[in-house]
Amino acid sequence: MPRIRKKAVSAGAVQGYALMMPDAIVNGGKISYQERGAGLPIVLIHGFPLDGRVFDDQLAGLSDSFRVIVPDLPGFGRSAPAQAFTMRGLAADLRAFLKQIGALPCVLGGLSMGGYVVLPMAEMFPADLKGLILLDTRAEADTDEARQNRDRMAAAARERGAAAVVEMMFGKMLAQSTAHQRPHVAQKLRQVMSEQPVDAIVYALAAMRDREDFRPRLGSIQTPTLIVVGEYDAITPPANAETMRSGLPRGWLITIPDSGHMPVMEQPESVNEAIRRFIRELR
Ligand code: MLT
Repeated sequence: MPRIRKKAVSAGAVQGYALMMPDAIVNGGKISYQERGAGLPIVLIHGFPLDGRVFDDQLAGLSDSFRVIVPDLPGFGRSAPAQAFTMRGLAADLRAFLKQIGALPCVLGGLSMGGYVVLPMAEMFPADLKGLILLDTRAEADTDEARQNRDRMAAAARERGAAAVVEMMFGKMLAQSTAHQRPHVAQKLRQVMSEQPVDAIVYALAAMRDREDFRPRLGSIQTPTLIVVGEYDAITPPANAETMRSGLPRGWLITIPDSGHMPVMEQPESVNEAIRRFIRELR
């Protein structure tokens, strides 16, 4: 029997959270999630070092037509403290979670690190997916230099907490125009990053460092896939998106103008419209 607990979270306990976040127990760990709307499930997996709050505009903007589900990955946000994990392990846990809450088949989306989780899930469980959405992510593994940077960042996080990661990453997250013209987006993003626990940061850095090169596997993913990338994404630039488009048998690419790595927050209306159009095409 699924073990799903509904737990009320008091108003203002963590600024910006929905008042009600249910939990599910998966492999003994607590996964907290937000859910709104009814119909075809759209599941969105956040990036690093973030939590489900980065999809607030998708929860608000798409839940009139869809059942939008946004979990916090293990250790992030309100989910239970993490233990060491791999991207494939997270993909298997994600599938167990979605099965438990009756959200399969679904349209599954992953932002950046979330993309590193949904790609193996698409490969392992194709029958569970109606569509795949890859948001500002990549199929390439880390280079040697990137691996060393992961270790440096983990050491800095252990020493100085999430603030060290914010310092190292924040400048690359948003388009310049967003940082200047939409300061509330920058402020919210900084807050979400600052609130993530050090353990989750360290485990995620190791899992990202050790993840496989997914390029040779793209050809086996037959699920229709929408690829979204911000025009000025400095972390997973448009060239990474183009690699995925050319490797996926059924991939469509849309570039979002005036956006960096976080179009889901920087240009949410354009992202939501692209998702609606993609799902109309699926049907
Ligand atoms: C993310 O946004 O999830 C991460 O920056 C991805 C990465 O560092 O590879």
